[in-house]
Amino acid sequence: MRFAVKTGAATKQRTACAILPVYSDGELPASTRAYDRACGGIISELFKAGDLRGETGETLLVVAGSGAPVRRLLLAGCGKRADFSRRSYRKATRAALATLARSGQPSAISYLTLEPVADADPYRRARLLAETWHEVSYRFTALKSKQPEHVPAVSSLAAAADGRSRRSMISGLGHGEAIGRGVNFARELGNLPANVCTPSYLADRARELGRRHRRLTVKVMSEAQMRKLKMGALLSVTAGTTEPARFIIMEYSNAPRSKRPVVLVGKGITFDTGGISLKPPPQMDEMKYDMCGAASVFGAVQAAAELELPINLVGIVPACENLPSGTATRPGDIVTSMSGQTVEILNTDAEGRLILCDALTYAQRYKPAALIDIATLTGACVIALGRPRSGLLANSDALAEALLKAGEDADDRAWRLPLDPEYGEQLKSNFADMANVGGREAGTITAASFLSRFAGKSDWAHLDIAGTAWLQGARKGGTGRPVPLLVEYLLAS
Ligand code: BES
Ligand code: MN
Ligand code: ZN
Repeated sequence: MRFAVKTGAATKQRTACAILPVYSDGELPASTRAYDRACGGIISELFKAGDLRGETGETLLVVAGSGAPVRRLLLAGCGKRADFSRRSYRKATRAALATLARSGQPSAISYLTLEPVADADPYRRARLLAETWHEVSYRFTALKSKQPEHVPAVSSLAAAADGRSRRSMISGLGHGEAIGRGVNFARELGNLPANVCTPSYLADRARELGRRHRRLTVKVMSEAQMRKLKMGALLSVTAGTTEPARFIIMEYSNAPRSKRPVVLVGKGITFDTGGISLKPPPQMDEMKYDMCGAASVFGAVQAAAELELPINLVGIVPACENLPSGTATRPGDIVTSMSGQTVEILNTDAEGRLILCDALTYAQRYKPAALIDIATLTGACVIALGRPRSGLLANSDALAEALLKAGEDADDRAWRLPLDPEYGEQLKSNFADMANVGGREAGTITAASFLSRFAGKSDWAHLDIAGTAWLQGARKGGTGRPVPLLVEYLLAS
C-alpha cells in the first residue's frame, strides 16, 4: 500500500474512489459539495431521497457516473457536525475503509482528513487513516489452503490536505503506517498456532527483523546459555516440554551510547497448558495467545526501527512452552532465580512471572532508563478491567503517568492499579524467599508485586494485557495491543 498526502482542488485528483464526509445535520462539507456539483447533484439527491442519513459509521458506495472525476463515491457518515470527535472520526474512517477494502477499487482519497476534529489535529487525522487501513485490511491467510475472497485490491490511499497541514499529515501517515504494520505483525504472531509459532519460530522472526534493519542487532540464547546465567525460574517452566526454549534479545541503537535505553520485556509463552497445575479444557486453545506480550515487543521494535526513532531500545523475549510431563516442574518445587532469590512454585500455572523475573534480572545489565514488561499475566485482570483497558502497575509515578498518557493519546488505554507493600505479604512462603502465587485476592496485584522484586532499582512498569491482547467470539483474533501505546510512548520519549 502506498500512502500519500494530496493538496489541491477537490475534484482534480486522479484516483478511482473519493471518500467523502457527510454529516447528519447541516450542509455538505466543502469537498463533498464540490464532488456533488461535479457529479450532477447525485449526493444531495441521495440525501433527499433518504438513501443516506449521515449517521456515524454509515457508508454508501455509488457509481459516480459518466463525466465524473472519479469512478466511485464512497459517502461516509460522520454524525452531527458539532459532535465530530476523534472517536467518531475513527469510526467513520473504519467503516469507510472496510467498505473500500471490499470494493475492488484500486485507489482512493479520503476527504475526512480535511474535516476539523476537536481532539485530533491534522497529524492525528492522517495517522489514524493509515493505522485504520492496516486494521481493516488485515486478514489471517497464512494457514488457509485457499485465498479468501475479498482480498483488498487497494494499492494507493491518499489523505486530502490543505497547504498548511501538508507536512504534519505526511508525518502522521508515516507514523500511522509503522504503527499499523507493527500492530499487524503482533496480531499475526498472536494468531499463529502454537505448533507453528514456537520459541524457535519467534527467534527466527527476530533474526529476520535484525537482517532488515541496520541499527538492530539480534541475539538468541539457547537453554545451555540460560543455564550458564542461572535462569532457574525460566528453566523450570520449560522443563516439561521437548520444544527448546529461546531467550531473544533485540538491541536497537540510534542514539549516543551514553543514552540509557528503554527496555521492553515481553512474555513469550507460546502455549500455556498450566503445566502440572493443568488448566480446564474450555477455551484452552486461547492460550496460544500467551505470547502476545512478546508479540507486542516485536511490533514496537519493528515500528521504532522503521521510523528510525532517535532512541536506544532493547526488546527482550523469554520464550518457552508450559507443558506437563514426567520432567515437568511439580507444585512445591523450589527454584533459584537468576537474581539469587528462591521461589516456591505452588502453582505451575503462574508461569509468566517465572520467565519474566529472570528476564527482568537480565535486563538490569542495560541500566534501563525505563523497564517495561508486557504480559498476558492474570485472568484476574480480565475480571477487574474487562477488555477495554490493560492493567498498569509501576514502581515509578512518572513512568506510570507517561504510559497512561501514551495510552490515552493512542486510544490504547490502560488503568493503574496499586502496588502497596501489604499486597506483597500474600507471597510469603514457609520454605523459600517467596511463593509464586498469593491466593485468589488481588491476583493481578500480587503477580505485579512478585515481578517488582526483580526490577532492581530501575523505573519499572508492568502492563497486564490478559484482557486486551485478543478478542473472542465472531471477531476472535489478536488485537496487536498494546503496540500503539508503546510506540506512542517511544515517540514521546
Ligand atoms: N496466561 C495465564 C493468564 C491468562 C488466563 C490470560 C486467561 C488470559 C486469559 C497465566 O499464565 C495464568 O495462568 N495465570 C493464572 C495465575 C494464577 C495461577 C495465580 C490465572 O490467572 O489463573
Ligand atoms: Mn498460566
Ligand atoms: Zn500464562
